[in-house]
Amino acid sequence: MPYPTKRLTFSDLCFDVYEDVYEPAEDSFLFAENLHIEAGMSVLDLGTGCGILAVLAAKKTDVVVAVDLNPSAMRCAKENAHLNGVCDRIAFLRGDLFGTLRAGVRFDLVLFNAPYLPSDAGEEATWIGRSWAGGADGRLVVDRFITEVLAYLKPAGRVLLMQSTLTGVEKTLRGFSQQGFSAYVVAERSLPFFETLTLIEANV
Ligand SMILES: C[S@@+](CC[C@H](N)C(=O)[O-])C[C@H]1O[C@@H](n2cnc3c(N)ncnc32)[C@H](O)[C@@H]1O
Repeated sequence: MPYPTKRLTFSDLCFDVYEDVYEPAEDSFLFAENLHIEAGMSVLDLGTGCGILAVLAAKKTDVVVAVDLNPSAMRCAKENAHLNGVCDRIAFLRGDLFGTLRAGVRFDLVLFNAPYLPSDAGEEATWIGRSWAGGADGRLVVDRFITEVLAYLKPAGRVLLMQSTLTGVEKTLRGFSQQGFSAYVVAERSLPFFETLTLIEANV
């Protein structure tokens, strides 16, 4: 087998997770439990990892684009789309945030379980590191995302962004508001060591 894997299940779906790809965790599951998608919606899953959110989206709609920087994540997400019978419903693009999208493309819903934790220099040196490390204040990727996402949304589009209290939920809500969104917390889950995962929805 070319990539050492671990298999996990969510709902009635199963996912193989390669060694150098983010293994779905509490944040992925909180996200997945709060994903409400209707047929016909176009969905962009940024930082797709093993593809868990893209596959869930593709079970409901046939216009899904999954993006990740990590080449192994691309292979892994494609395998999982195949395993779960939705490979013809997802387009896979390897790249940095919105950088590989066709000019002018816009979505009804953009999902991002981002790298949102504060990190020390060098911690983003591996693919697993890049899946969680957000720089000194944890906001390196999140802040870029917030300033760029509006250009990729349809007029009544929505954003779902995972965040942690370790990174500043208020800052994120303010950042969305400065870009013209109305943003609020849709779900939370407390973790040990004084951290709460927070799923934020932002509407155009
Ligand atoms: C926390 S993991 C989430 C994976 C998956 N969506 C989940 O919920 O289990 C974050 C993912 O974002 C990807 N990533 C990090 N920075 C990125 C960037 N600038 N552009 C695209 N993907 C990025 C990482 O490679 C990783 O797969």
